[in-house]
Amino acid sequence: MTGPILFLDSGVGGLSVLAAVAARLPDAPLVYCADSAGFPYGTKSEAEVSARVAGLLGRLTERLRPSIVVIACNTASTIALGHVRPVLAVPVVGTVPAIKPAAEQTQSGVIGVLGTKATVRQPYVDDLSARFASHCTVLRHGSAALVEAAEHKLRGLTPDPAIFRDAIAGLTAQPGGDRLDTIVLACTHFPLVAAELAAAAPRPMAFIDGAQGIARRTAHLLEGAAWPEVRSAGRAIFTGGTSGLAPLLPALKGFGLETVESL
Ligand code: DGL
Repeated sequence: MTGPILFLDSGVGGLSVLAAVAARLPDAPLVYCADSAGFPYGTKSEAEVSARVAGLLGRLTERLRPSIVVIACNTASTIALGHVRPVLAVPVVGTVPAIKPAAEQTQSGVIGVLGTKATVRQPYVDDLSARFASHCTVLRHGSAALVEAAEHKLRGLTPDPAIFRDAIAGLTAQPGGDRLDTIVLACTHFPLVAAELAAAAPRPMAFIDGAQGIARRTAHLLEGAAWPEVRSAGRAIFTGGTSGLAPLLPALKGFGLETVESL
């Protein structure tokens, strides 16, 4: 029997990746880990994020014996992918900003990378921009409020619309921002509030994230896997305990995560 697919994020953001993977691999057992004790990652140092992600994935892979790990978080992937890949005994798929498709799609030649503060300062983003978007102006903006807004939305709360306006303005107010036509959602929390972002944009813009690409890659790596005949219910694991999670349970169920545990 093949082990589950293990997803890791700081919070609920990685559910946007899990949904795309689950649609492609409907029989695969899924375990979603939210490092709620370490949330948020985007305001932490590189050393802190790296240490948490490496330690946590070591413990989780030993305990759960997954067939593959999906780091469903841009912050963790752009900082720690290179450290964890060589030491884990299973394949690791990361989530990195979808700069390549954005650069292929833009009409104006100005793209925006909307991520966490930690992600937008990573050399990984410099590298992706240099390799795939050298013909473009690449604007970057980091927002912690937008991460919180997605967390609130999944708990049934309505975030302040100013959060979405401010996030878009963080890009459009920069030089060249008046020509911005394509925004990379470079944090897995942001596709969960894509409709709110689109509504807050001053004109129609394209929003691109990497979830479909990750799902394709994961399915490719798992080709021929022998999944259990009866699919087990999805499991959610929270590192910060399970108290106070009641408002989140309907959203978790909506993503097929029926049980909630603490690590
Ligand atoms: N969802 C995460 C990402 O893709 C990070 C959110 C946070 O913890 O700051 O970057």
